[in-house]
Amino acid sequence: MDFSKIEKEAIEKINSVEDLNELEKVRLSYLGKKGNISQEMKNIANLSIEEKKEVGKKLNNLKNLIHKKIEEQKIIIKKFITNKKISGEKIDLSLPSRNFKSGKIHPISQTIEEVINIFSSMGFSVAEGPDIETDYNNFTALNIPPHHPARDMQDTFYLTDNEKEKLVLRTHTSPVQIRTMFKNKPPLKIIVPGRTYRCDSDSTHSPMFHQVEGLLVDQSSTMAHLKGCLIDFLKAFFEIDTLKYRFRPSYFPFTEPSAEMDVAYKKISGVLKFGEGSDWLEILGCGMVNPRVLDNCGIDSKKFQGFAFGMGIERISMLKYGITDLR
Ligand code: PHE
Repeated sequence: MDFSKIEKEAIEKINSVEDLNELEKVRLSYLGKKGNISQEMKNIANLSIEEKKEVGKKLNNLKNLIHKKIEEQKIIIKKFITNKKISGEKIDLSLPSRNFKSGKIHPISQTIEEVINIFSSMGFSVAEGPDIETDYNNFTALNIPPHHPARDMQDTFYLTDNEKEKLVLRTHTSPVQIRTMFKNKPPLKIIVPGRTYRCDSDSTHSPMFHQVEGLLVDQSSTMAHLKGCLIDFLKAFFEIDTLKYRFRPSYFPFTEPSAEMDVAYKKISGVLKFGEGSDWLEILGCGMVNPRVLDNCGIDSKKFQGFAFGMGIERISMLKYGITDLR
């Protein structure tokens, strides 16, 4: 029996099969009960002991080889079938889009943009600072020393216990006043839009909110300029020439004198009518920069003076767009 010829033939046959049924037929023709190899195995009985050993070993090797080749070919055929199936199938995973006309900018972002536009036209430039501030910039430099009761109104999130460099989530945008005055010499004229944080949460307060700060430092600006600037801003922002407002005396450690500004509104059957009426909504704090703050930043308070204000973006946004609940 020519083993190498049978081997060669078998391998050729196996490799050329492209179908699992055909492959099974080939397998049976060699390894099945009536297959070539099985028949040869039976014939061994007629051989001498020596020959039995030799032929038996070769037949076994051949049997194992054919078995192995068939298993390999099985994998190849299965892969081929799968690939063919995949390339023939098309699955459309897309869903038709919902019928949105278009996306919209968030009211807070839109309000910040509007605020920047108006103050830019008055000659203010935009400054920024980090959300995580030093306790010094957020409080102490603004004339709010440790243990000052004003800290209580601006309770916030404290980040470290390190005595040297206490860090807080800033409670207002005012620390950017400090950063700006440390870095630049007057005249200064900036606004600072940004995120701020306090332990506060209800329909008109959220723990994270937005403010825009204003700071002007020069040699001659007065409270009258501050008032004119804010009145012009509010009339432009709310697009109401006859806007009814009032300034109320107030207290901030970093301004002296200080004021808060309210805008009038009335509610007609649940709808907010803004800019007139006899109810008042506070929208900002302001005042003349406290000379101590200027001195803390290395600016000579005998030579320079100025004003500052801080406004809640959510507040003016809710008023302008008639949003009654922040949440
Ligand atoms: N920082 C003050 C606040 O958050 C607002 C303010 C800013 C008041 C600047 C005066 C001057 O309440």
